[in-house]
Amino acid sequence: MTEASRIHCSRLRERLMSAGEAAALIPSGANVGMSGFTGAGYPKAVPQALAAHIRERRERGENYRISVWTGASTAPELDGALAEVDGIEMRLPYQSDPVCRQKINEGRMSYIDIHLSHVAQHAWSGFFGELDVAVIEVAGITEDGKLIPSSSIGNNKTWIDQADKVILEVNHGQSAGLEGMHDVYYGTALPPRRKPIEMTQPDDRIGEKYLLCPPEKIIAVVETNAPDRCSRFSEPDETSNAIARHLLAFFEMEVEKKRLPENLLPLQSGVGNIANAVLAGLNEGPFSDLTAYTEVLQDGMLAMLRSGKLRMASATALSLSPEASKELTDNIDFYRERILLRTQEISNHPEVIRRLGIIAMNGMIEADIYGNVNSTHLMGSRIMNGIGGSGDFARNGYLSVFMTPSTAKGGAISTIVPMVSHVDHTEHDVQIVVTEQGLADLRGLAPRQRALSIIENCAHPDFRPRLRDYFKRACASGRGMHTPHLLGEALSWHQRYEETGQM
Ligand code: COA
Repeated sequence: MTEASRIHCSRLRERLMSAGEAAALIPSGANVGMSGFTGAGYPKAVPQALAAHIRERRERGENYRISVWTGASTAPELDGALAEVDGIEMRLPYQSDPVCRQKINEGRMSYIDIHLSHVAQHAWSGFFGELDVAVIEVAGITEDGKLIPSSSIGNNKTWIDQADKVILEVNHGQSAGLEGMHDVYYGTALPPRRKPIEMTQPDDRIGEKYLLCPPEKIIAVVETNAPDRCSRFSEPDETSNAIARHLLAFFEMEVEKKRLPENLLPLQSGVGNIANAVLAGLNEGPFSDLTAYTEVLQDGMLAMLRSGKLRMASATALSLSPEASKELTDNIDFYRERILLRTQEISNHPEVIRRLGIIAMNGMIEADIYGNVNSTHLMGSRIMNGIGGSGDFARNGYLSVFMTPSTAKGGAISTIVPMVSHVDHTEHDVQIVVTEQGLADLRGLAPRQRALSIIENCAHPDFRPRLRDYFKRACASGRGMHTPHLLGEALSWHQRYEETGQM
């Protein structure tokens, strides 16, 4: 035990061991539920020790693999390290690691990419098999054995409840002041025993401040001292600033038309540079007394809390750059008053999202002229990251916004295409499409009207004439005027890119 141990429960102090000793308790073939959500709150030592263990066993000719369930993406110390040694048999429900991505696309790792709000209930129902071990990072353990969650909660409650055995990583690198920022709801159940989630405002507290785990389940406690590894955001560029401007102008118009209140509705913001630029735009913009009900709280939202534009934020993870993380730790009392971290089944709960009337803003890979959106696949077959929470928020939000630059790969790819090469969000779930070119408001439009709006407002001028031509010929083909397509040509843009490197 270190001098200033955060393990205040003597019974659990007795289970202290090294990461290597704890990793050796995870058998080959195990289903392992790990903490971690967008680079926050993932275990930092046991997965690396396990990767070393797997490498050794592999060198002795043994096949040693596990299945990894998490909240969402993690970091190189978890996904990267285990994928590097080919140690992951199956991964769910979201990843964004380059090595994982490569193994999945090579067919060497199975990947179940599902709505983040569905994970807990699928696990309870046993669709993924039995959960053998949970490896959970916490910020500390109280005298009576309650677990202080760290910078994300994700599926931790579910993994602890479901697993036969639990390994804890107590990370001294996480701010001790996180204690009290969490709201862990213990009331979820499967139908027909389900009850309403009693939340009518984003700042309603409905649960506990701690994760609860029977001490007899805890087979190991490992102490660590390491920061989360969240990427830095690039400074907003002209493209992301233009997207932010279009969106802000749209919000102003909606307020003028009294379709949104003056302080808007609770915001959900996806991850990435464009989402961050939109938040920076909102921080400079005319709206105040804003709230957020989101999955990931990133730098842009922290800045909005600091400036006072954002009154409070509810999320399941703090995905912050090192600088923003320091800002949080240095002013933890200020932020604890304004941030609530919840389990992901609640942060992404369809019932709550629908009731609160969330403004959902997410990135995408491509949209087609009718408004179907692909968030996950490159050229139809290769996974990028996963659907994450975008579907939870897009389907159930009050406003569902998808944004992207109008081109990718230096202008070789149009992100507005005749037909998307993979569908994550159907035309029925997509209301607003924004690129740096402009914004298409698809609400109240029939498919052919949507096509005109998306082509004229969102497509890049280099690709617009060809999209107009495709649409015109599809309409003239006489094959059906509801959603006109030329089936032999609809995916030819992707095929051309695969063959020539240019759409
Ligand atoms: N075709 C091929 N590649 C494309 C593309 C397209 N239409 N659009 C983008 N890309 C490539 C980019 O070139 C870039 O590749 P690179 O890293 O090799 O340069 C990569 O995809 C990421 O693009 P970027 O512009 O940096 O986008 P981003 O960081 O804003 O991420 C998504 C966009 C869609 C990948 C990301 O938002 C995502 O994973 N979304 C799904 C999950 C989600 O929405 N979660 C939020 C809910 S809380």
